[in-house]
Amino acid sequence: MGVDFPEFPTFHLAEMSHPSRPIRFWTLTVLAGATLLTYLLATAPQAISELNQNQPSLSTEDALTMMALENDFTRTLFTKAIVGEGKKQGLAFDENWADEDVHAGPLPALFLRGVARELSKSDVPLRLFLGSDFPIEGTNLFKKRQAEVFATMRTNLQPQHFQDPSTGEFVGMFPDFASAAPCVSCHNQHINSPKTDWVLGDLMGATTWSYPTDSVSSDEFIAMLKAYRSGVAVVWDAYLDELQDLEAEKQPHIGNQWPDQGLFIPNQVALRDSIDALVGRDLLAAFMSNVHSK
Ligand code: HEC
Repeated sequence: MGVDFPEFPTFHLAEMSHPSRPIRFWTLTVLAGATLLTYLLATAPQAISELNQNQPSLSTEDALTMMALENDFTRTLFTKAIVGEGKKQGLAFDENWADEDVHAGPLPALFLRGVARELSKSDVPLRLFLGSDFPIEGTNLFKKRQAEVFATMRTNLQPQHFQDPSTGEFVGMFPDFASAAPCVSCHNQHINSPKTDWVLGDLMGATTWSYPTDSVSSDEFIAMLKAYRSGVAVVWDAYLDELQDLEAEKQPHIGNQWPDQGLFIPNQVALRDSIDALVGRDLLAAFMSNVHSK
């Protein structure tokens, strides 16, 4: 072996004091024990925390902003590609779509409400609410702190984040604009609408999310997203079921195609694929820039 290993100073120390065998044994045991302890205290917990998926790694504000992104794309796709194009194919969308005797799809706000209901049934403590200061449906009126914060949004048109004093929850409110002509005409004409002069581009309300903590782990965020997506799937199933009740000649074919191509409605997979194609890239980019690894 042509390599000279440097000698350990401890070796010299041991050689010089000539300790007896039992002392040497105990010294080594204690040294080894201390080394192990140092390892456990200094190194192992850090290694464990690196692996620990439950460490908060996102602010709730960022998590809700990403949820709002997913929701915006989902709702816009539904509003334009299903409701807008579907109507041209003779498909009906009605606020009483869930009634036994009404064979129609949900309006965009009711689509969202259906998803919100599924979320409230899930294990994930995330709540979703579409409110307004001039709602068609009275229970959608913003109250208390949310009403105050919405008044601020009316002046700056920006998302708002705050802790609600009455629930302790962390809330993210995202503006809901009249992005298409039907938003305005339907709301202005609705018999229960307290406001009849909405114009295109108006702030009509706010999509409002609440969560009990101010930060979440990556796992918790994935659970939020999964719960939202499974809510969308449940509402979609209910809509596809509803279509089965239409007379044969009015029934759209359910598959890969969309109503802009004819009397078609996308199935679950085609719907999911399209939402993913729209939102996937932005969502991943937002996640990668928001998540802070320990
Ligand atoms: C065909 C009619 C119709 C169209 C189109 C429509 N809405 Fe609504 N909207 C309703 C009804 C009805 C409700 C109440 C639903 C409920 O019972 O919660 C509602 C609820 C809402 C709410 C919650 C506050 C409220 O008024 O109860 C907001 C905000 C809203 N819509 C915004 C929009 C926007 C933005 C668009 C366009 C992207 C739109 N709506 C398109 C009929 C419509």
